[in-house]
Amino acid sequence: MPKHIQLLTVIGARPQFVKASVVSRALSKATILEDILHTGQHFDSNMDAVFFEELNIPMPVANLNAGGGTHGEQTAKMMVGIEKQLLEKGVGFYDGILVYGDTNSTLAAALVGAKLQIPIFHIEAGLRSYNRTMPEEVNRVLTDQLSSLLFCPSNDVIGNLAKEGITKGVHVVGDVMHDAFLHYQNNNTKLSPEIEAILASSFILLTLHRPSNTDSPEHLSAILENLKRVKSPILWPVHPRMQSKINSYSLPEHIKPVAPLSYFELLRVLSACNMVITDSGGLQKEAYWAKKKCITLREETEWVETVQCGWNHVVGHGSSSFNAALQTPLPKHQPQLYGAGDASERITSIIFNYFASNSK
Ligand code: UD1
Repeated sequence: MPKHIQLLTVIGARPQFVKASVVSRALSKATILEDILHTGQHFDSNMDAVFFEELNIPMPVANLNAGGGTHGEQTAKMMVGIEKQLLEKGVGFYDGILVYGDTNSTLAAALVGAKLQIPIFHIEAGLRSYNRTMPEEVNRVLTDQLSSLLFCPSNDVIGNLAKEGITKGVHVVGDVMHDAFLHYQNNNTKLSPEIEAILASSFILLTLHRPSNTDSPEHLSAILENLKRVKSPILWPVHPRMQSKINSYSLPEHIKPVAPLSYFELLRVLSACNMVITDSGGLQKEAYWAKKKCITLREETEWVETVQCGWNHVVGHGSSSFNAALQTPLPKHQPQLYGAGDASERITSIIFNYFASNSK
């Protein structure tokens, strides 16, 4: 058992800031030391700095400024920076590396850490879309292979890992995003007058950022055609990936694009909306916890439980499945999915026990 446990957390994309905020708090309560390394994958202030401020996340020890570029360029730049941080601190300084989800930042840290023989702890392990054209699927399959502790949000994903030969170090702890949702859902952050005005109506919250939608003119046109026929106002916080493309489409009055929202703003808007339409992973679950219908604009989802219980409809970009989902009433009941909101504490105590039983 080390005298104290010192972790390096590597994060870089918007949802990872939310997840890290609740885990950092739990680690600090358990006196586990943590350095945060920011890869810079997301860099616009409303995708990055605003989250650190709002969620009170400890200052990163460094920012690698590795955003933009191709997947190869971005991941390689991150790997060089992460390795530098680890080597500068010296072998043995970090007892483990904490990574989240399925972004390029996750994979970069897992690859570098594994080669330096530092244990990798993966939060949100075991999820699969079984669609290898998604960069995220590649990132998560490889990260899981390299991880010593795999923290899973639900029982169902254990089978995914077992199929790939991973049975050691697997723990079902629930979803840290649920912890964050419960902790922050009743915030009263101020919204812009433009957004406040929409809140008074029965509106839909829309987000789109998957390359399979934003980078395919055919899919994007089909999605926008579906949305044009919807009668309610649609509030659309636009991801930077989408921003440059949006200008070539003429949007009808009822679709209102706005700048990306902070986490607190998003939670307020989510609680006021009538329904969510998205291709995000995280928002599918947040819609569920907020008891809103979700229509998912993808061909498949990793969050299958939300679909099985009737709250989420995976419709791709076709119009008949989209229209059918719009009409489907909400189920009467909602089972508790993805834990009770104590995933961060459970993760912390499993990390603690890992070191207690594997003395360095
Ligand atoms: C990434 C993750 C995705 C996650 C999402 C959360 C990967 C492969 N994808 O997708 O799993 O759901 O974050 O939001 O890691 N850009 C800016 N400013 C920013 C951020 C991005 O202009 O602050 C631009 C980038 O330069 C790039 C594009 O948006 O051209 C996409 O950004 P990138 O971080 O590569 O992927 P995301 O689509 O955000």
